[in-house]
Amino acid sequence: MNLADVTHYYSERLREHGASAQGVDWNSADSQRLRFTQLLRICGERENFSLNDIGCGYGALFDYLSERRSHCDYLGVDIAAPMIAKAVELHRGRTGCRFLVGEHPDRRADYGVASGVFNVKLSSHAADWRAHILRTLDHLNEASKDGFAFNCLTKYSDADRMKEHLYYADPAELFDHCKRSYSRNVALLHDYGLYEFTILVRKDIAA
Ligand SMILES: C[S@@+](CC[C@H](N)C(=O)[O-])C[C@H]1O[C@@H](n2cnc3c(N)ncnc32)[C@H](O)[C@@H]1O
Repeated sequence: MNLADVTHYYSERLREHGASAQGVDWNSADSQRLRFTQLLRICGERENFSLNDIGCGYGALFDYLSERRSHCDYLGVDIAAPMIAKAVELHRGRTGCRFLVGEHPDRRADYGVASGVFNVKLSSHAADWRAHILRTLDHLNEASKDGFAFNCLTKYSDADRMKEHLYYADPAELFDHCKRSYSRNVALLHDYGLYEFTILVRKDIAA
């Protein structure tokens, strides 16, 4: 999968809107944070953990975590170099965070999350994009010791609001894939009021 056009798309959003929810193509800061709340359910009450954030943008999740948790060892990864440059600039001098350009982290962490990386497919064919999602989930699984979480736009979105350049995933299919491929302990969250769902894959619970 050539992600050059996706990289360009997000770099342009950042150039237009700066380090803000709109700069990573979300409608609002509230929805961005609501997504973080859902994804971080994977960490439960744990206070001390390492986290890989795939598609970290300008590092908003690290700031969200900093407000809530004291001891997160955070690595943010993003394909768009301008996003990582902005993340580095905004977090200069902060401890507990590191940022890397690319698709994959350079380490295993306790947890991995990916917020918004599967939404914008642009002109890719749906079947190719689906295969890209499954490959990315394999990497996320390998790099996450205790569990991982990700979100996707839902195929249950209102038809008149769906857009050609976005990918609307089948939540039941991805739930089934995660159950069969990664862990017996999988949660599907499709109840938080956005046109999307979050899947949590827990690997730290005995089956
Ligand atoms: C919708 S934005 C969300 C950014 C951030 N997660 C947040 O919620 O603030 C998606 C980000 O993922 C990045 N991205 C898209 N596909 C990616 C991939 N396969 N690997 C790494 N980053 C990716 C984009 O460059 C963009 O910055």
